[in-house]
Amino acid sequence: MFSNKNIVLGVCGGIAAYKACELTSRLKKQSANVDVIMTKSAAEFVTSLTFQSLSLNQVVTDMFDKPKYWEIEHISLAKKADIIVIAPATANVIGKLANGIADDALTTTVMASKALKLIAPAMNTNMYENVIVQKNIELLKQLGYHFIEPGEGRLACGDIGKGKMAEPEAIEARIKELLLTNQDLQGKTVLVTAGPTREAIDPVRFITNHSTGKMGFAIAEKAAARGAKVYLVSGPSNLATPHGVDRFDVESAVNMYETVMKLKENADIIIKSAAVADYRPAEQSSEKIKKSGDELIIKLQKNPDILQELGKNKGNKVLIGFAMETQNLIENARAKVARKNLDFIVANDLRTEGAGFAGDTNVVKIIDKDGSIVEVPLLRKSELADIILDKAISVMK
Ligand code: PMT
Repeated sequence: MFSNKNIVLGVCGGIAAYKACELTSRLKKQSANVDVIMTKSAAEFVTSLTFQSLSLNQVVTDMFDKPKYWEIEHISLAKKADIIVIAPATANVIGKLANGIADDALTTTVMASKALKLIAPAMNTNMYENVIVQKNIELLKQLGYHFIEPGEGRLACGDIGKGKMAEPEAIEARIKELLLTNQDLQGKTVLVTAGPTREAIDPVRFITNHSTGKMGFAIAEKAAARGAKVYLVSGPSNLATPHGVDRFDVESAVNMYETVMKLKENADIIIKSAAVADYRPAEQSSEKIKKSGDELIIKLQKNPDILQELGKNKGNKVLIGFAMETQNLIENARAKVARKNLDFIVANDLRTEGAGFAGDTNVVKIIDKDGSIVEVPLLRKSELADIILDKAISVMK
């Protein structure tokens, strides 16, 4: 429920404006106070009377409307908003916001507000993929604006591709997540690694492990929900990319090493939950290895230890490792904290029920660099993710 929450809904000109009516109605049903601001072009698609009837509030359509009250409309809405949602958002309005142009009721309100901002783009695929639009989106993301990605499908213009505004139900869920989740990672960058690595033997076969990526994806999702800019470097995984996360897919440990080294500079917190192969075949056959004798010996060569490398130039970053063990969990994990220069390590034992690979839960011991241990009982990986992030924030402080 959104009781006592003030949501300002900006509606731009596009056929998806009709979906903003459903969004208004959904938010009202959740007890939010909704104030709608329409751009001139939005009024070509839906009348202000529709939004007025649904929101039970006056609708702002013009910056120079006579104020209904003594306050100047765009300033009063900017101040009272808990969140400003722009749905649908056109390339035009995204461009204006990214470049500091405030020339109508919606853009002036956004510019004058310190509230959370959520943007739901809707436009033709080519427009959405245009580098200028993408640059503007990237810049706004860096400035803390949240985005809900458009979906793919048949667009109003007849093209098929990305550009359909996210569904009102998904936008409502995102608003809930933003309004009801503490934004304590706002302005921070979190780099998470997840999943297994895949070390090729030949074009057909590889060495890997049982990691699915669930643990790392849960951390990335929670960090983004708490306001962080999140880079997720993932080995092969079928999981969907969490909202608001920038995903980098990699295959081998060497690929992961190269990608992490490129991204690490801006990171405030690095969490290495990936199960990285310690060794790779020393040689990769360019053709499928044919069956021959009774034995086949594959020589392995050591992979770079990504975490250890990060630990060498840790600086002010919070560096968190994972340890997967089958014996001597605490001793082995403690040794890794010291060797890799970590702030703390999250240790899980494959033999413990509900812990480790593939499931939705984990059971861990969090071991600090001072040696202290916190035992975390069976929890969902999403709940454990919040505990890890809470601890990372306390280390940062
Ligand atoms: O993905 P899921 O199915 O949800 O499973 C989650 C998990 C079991 C993979 C996860 O909870 C976990 O334990 N991840 C770490 C597994 C692991 O590789 O542990 P390790 O003890 O071998 O490595 C120690 C740390 O060094 C890890 O943070 C690892 O990412 C890092 N490492 C290891 C080797 C290497 N070459 N480079 C590294 O950075």
